[in-house]
Amino acid sequence: MPAVTTAARANQDLTSAVREAEERYVRANPQSAERYAAAARAMPGGNTRTTIYFSPFPLCMAKGEGARLIDVDGHVYADFVNEYTAGVFGHSNPIILAAIQAAAKDGIVLGAPNKYEALLAAEVTRRFASMQRVRFCNSGTEANLLALSTARAVTGRPKIMVFDGAYHGSLLYFSHGGSPLNMPFPVVTSVYNDAERARADIGAHAASLAAVIVEPMQGGAGAIPGERRFLEALREACTDSGVLLIFDEVMTSRLSPAGVQGLYGIRPDMTTLGKYLAGGMTIGAFGGREDIMARFDPASPNAFPHGGTFNNNVLAMAAGHAALSKVLTAEAVEEMNRRGDRLRERLNGLARAHDLPMQVTGVGSIFGIHFHRGPIRNAGDLDRGEAGRETAIRELKTLFHLDMLAAGQYLSRRILGNLSLETTDADLDGLCSAVEEFLVSRGGLIREAVPA
Ligand SMILES: Cc1ncc(COP(=O)(O)O)c(C=O)c1O
Repeated sequence: MPAVTTAARANQDLTSAVREAEERYVRANPQSAERYAAAARAMPGGNTRTTIYFSPFPLCMAKGEGARLIDVDGHVYADFVNEYTAGVFGHSNPIILAAIQAAAKDGIVLGAPNKYEALLAAEVTRRFASMQRVRFCNSGTEANLLALSTARAVTGRPKIMVFDGAYHGSLLYFSHGGSPLNMPFPVVTSVYNDAERARADIGAHAASLAAVIVEPMQGGAGAIPGERRFLEALREACTDSGVLLIFDEVMTSRLSPAGVQGLYGIRPDMTTLGKYLAGGMTIGAFGGREDIMARFDPASPNAFPHGGTFNNNVLAMAAGHAALSKVLTAEAVEEMNRRGDRLRERLNGLARAHDLPMQVTGVGSIFGIHFHRGPIRNAGDLDRGEAGRETAIRELKTLFHLDMLAAGQYLSRRILGNLSLETTDADLDGLCSAVEEFLVSRGGLIREAVPA
């Protein structure tokens, strides 16, 4: 793509800067545009996954190699989307590829227990001590639906408690008033990182509350870390009220060898997983206390029925076992997260050096970039910071995103990013220079959009 010089970007207002960046994007991506138009003939909006859509049209990726993506127009990107945290292993891990090929040779739809699922289950229960028993399913959404329904059935109570801004899947979306497609569970919404408020809410609803479900770091809301004190308060309040505590570690379980529950030594009653767990293949998992999970034993008289054609699909089970047992060692997890911490420190250092209101949040290998002044402890902080300036912030994020793409840095439109095991220090240098160029060339626009 043609380089855009700092001089050429000067003296523009935000709206014209976005328009110009979009025109540049359209010119640079004719093949992606064509494929998008063709896709729209069979899928509403040319899309089957809202998360990956961005205007004017998303890039169509042709290929992944290591920590790189190559789009259908031939541009090469450093991948910082990494399949929204599922791409922990990069694109070409030979051990995982070999496991998939070996499993595929023996047949992929066996309609019976296969030799891989117990191995993967053992690996999961070994890593996550609170998951004394585990069951598999096909997505993080499904894992959360199953965990919540289990909690309601086990406790005999109808309500669930969530936190404002939470994303627990496409049918469990609790940002900005939630989604019309949400499951019709009776929901109590509390405030993330507000221990006192959460305690009070749990106490007030205890008699009818089955479960509290929480992301130990809110991902979709913008990589907002859960404070230890807050998560510990949830544990205590749930124990006091006989409410089940569910940690949705679909995204965060990669943040330490035993997830955030391992980092903080907190034991939820149930945990949900997904994303990277099958080495990049489709998966979800839910598990927890043995007495709760025992209800899934089909031989027991009061067993919960839990079918699922692909719950133990051969390729996912084989790839997941190879990935967890041979690739994702404790050392590899820790190194990936240390590298992410270094990236966050460097990016925040750049914002300070240029005296601009950009903040990089997150934990370890997952980061969120915000144009915001003041602390970010929950979705409400972000909303209050943007109040009255929503359009400017949206435009600024669009501009940032399009400038990053032009610089060969693949990030999501809402500016969430993460590292894979394949991400190198040179990749971090590349991202830091692209961000610094943005801060220099667009500094005036950032100050205008986020005034002091
Ligand atoms: C915390 C969290 N829970 C659940 C999900 C849903 O997982 P899936 O997309 O596999 O349904 C996601 C996906 O981004 C997530 O981040």
